[in-house]
Amino acid sequence: MSINLTKNLLQWYDLYGRDLPWRVRGGAHPTPYVVLVSEIMLQQTTVKTVLPYFERFMNRFPTVEALAAAPLEEVYLCWQGLGYYTRARSLHTTAEMIVRDFGGKFPVDKENVKKLKGLGAYTVASFLALAFNQSETVVDGNVIRIICRLYHLKQPVEEIMPLIREKAEMLTDKENAADYASAIMDLGALICTPKKPQCRLCPWQEACLSYGKDDIEDIPRRVKAIKKEINGFVYVIRNKNGEVLIRKRTEKGLLSGLYEFPWSESYLFENALKSGLTVTHVFTHIKMRLEICFVYADAFADGFFVKVSDLESYPFSTLMKKVRQKSLL
Ligand code: ADE
Repeated sequence: MSINLTKNLLQWYDLYGRDLPWRVRGGAHPTPYVVLVSEIMLQQTTVKTVLPYFERFMNRFPTVEALAAAPLEEVYLCWQGLGYYTRARSLHTTAEMIVRDFGGKFPVDKENVKKLKGLGAYTVASFLALAFNQSETVVDGNVIRIICRLYHLKQPVEEIMPLIREKAEMLTDKENAADYASAIMDLGALICTPKKPQCRLCPWQEACLSYGKDDIEDIPRRVKAIKKEINGFVYVIRNKNGEVLIRKRTEKGLLSGLYEFPWSESYLFENALKSGLTVTHVFTHIKMRLEICFVYADAFADGFFVKVSDLESYPFSTLMKKVRQKSLL
């Protein structure tokens, strides 16, 4: 452990760390259920976005038993708009596993935690550190940025992960893993930000090899992933009763389990009215752009018709909500 850096960071955290609803400051730790829900929600999603979802979710499913007993569809409803919906399904499965296989008690050993659904290497480590103060090193995007800047590592991150991990482990406070994990996340969120880092306020300023250098915003470097573009059409199909057709996506893959208006990359209908209105959304590896088309039809290959006033009770992705908004549904 790098004693001074670690100690400086924990002192800084005592003074300036964020008060977040899934945290208990000053020694105590939040319950494992609170840690699990928040860590799953915070995967690939910012704290600001998560805050209202977390509050609603905990009100609706206050315990792991309540979550396990709820229908999956209700979990999706609570999750709609947050994105990456397989997380909702995995979280629900994990709650069922904890109630059924672990007698309602969260496992504390890494082997069993790894068996839970939806927890990759990062979330296993953050869960064990934050829920049980186990000496795990958390390496997320914040930590990667901080370490690369601290040691002025300019190679692409993908090529130096073992080195980053080693440095991160050296800095971790093994006795205070929970506070340390929260502290380094806050350092990344408040001080060592991707753009315009607040170096003058940084507790690691003296040791930082990037301090005062004009390339700090270019660190960390990453190999750029190319996003696939999908251009297509989305169909608002109304029948003679004015109902609208929706269908459920399969339980696997992108946006699984949510509802949608039918869409396709090629143009399906001869008689559809192309509206000129488009919706766009960027997913992890895909940029999607769909033109809204209005169609009158009493049948379609799949899906079912619902009253417009009933659309509220079906979970939709953000992309499909944009379709609803733009077509005034
Ligand atoms: N990002 C991931 N986990 C987090 C946490 N517990 N607090 C703040 N940001 C986070």
